[in-house]
Amino acid sequence: MIEFKNVSKIYQVGDQEVVALNQANFKLEKGKLTIILGPSGSGKSTLLNILGGMDRPTNGEINFDGQAVANLSDRGLTDYRRTKVGFIFQFYNLIPSLTAVENVAIAAKLTNNDARSVEYLKQVGLGHRLNNFPNQMSGGEMQRVSIARALAKQPELLLADEPTGALDSKTSLKIMELLQQAANDQDTAVVMVTHNPTFEQYGDQIIRLKDGQIDQIYANDDRVTLGEA
Ligand SMILES: Nc1ncnc2c1ncn2[C@@H]1O[C@H](COP(=O)(O)OP(=O)(O)OP(=O)(O)O)[C@@H](O)[C@H]1O
Ligand SMILES: [Mg+2]
Repeated sequence: MIEFKNVSKIYQVGDQEVVALNQANFKLEKGKLTIILGPSGSGKSTLLNILGGMDRPTNGEINFDGQAVANLSDRGLTDYRRTKVGFIFQFYNLIPSLTAVENVAIAAKLTNNDARSVEYLKQVGLGHRLNNFPNQMSGGEMQRVSIARALAKQPELLLADEPTGALDSKTSLKIMELLQQAANDQDTAVVMVTHNPTFEQYGDQIIRLKDGQIDQIYANDDRVTLGEA
């Protein structure tokens, strides 16, 4: 459903060219979870931002259900982000003047008392923090609000940049389970960037980046599914 063909991103810094992403080729399928691994600076966030329509590639083609994303106008790209993509940011990007439940609702275009916002906040373990503002929450709690916000949108494409960076290992596994469920139950294409190599077992597809290039890409047919009895 989503395909990258020879996608590159080159930044010009002074008289130097930084090749952040170099001729990347891969496919993402709805209902599947892709895990992206790679050292710091290898291009993970660059790839995710291009996928999410927050940045444009320098070269290459991106197809989303037959639509050429790289050629969209600014307006078209905004629509793409708004209608297709849910994004879990590394640094949360919550709106400070809104409570947890309001932050979730606004992104999913739900009314503030919609049960879905509360439901997703409960799923990430924040049923007791619904009416707290971001500055009344811990880093890990804010991270979980941002996860609930992206899940509540029930997007076709769910992108998560290091979504468990601020979480303990037990809570991280719960989030991993929710991301697997989003893929399985909502037919979402889920992409998760992580530094944690133990998460590899939970993905359907693994992409390893090195110096902006795809070093390895493979299907994991023995995926471990969390939450199954
Ligand atoms: N706006 C920019 N201008 C210039 N260079 C950039 C820009 N954004 C990223 N880069 C460079 O592109 C490369 C890839 O960066 P990217 O943020 O994608 O890495 P990453 O794999 O997400 O790293 P991390 O694990 O530290 O988050 C790095 O060398 C980085 O310095
Ligand atoms: Mg990054």
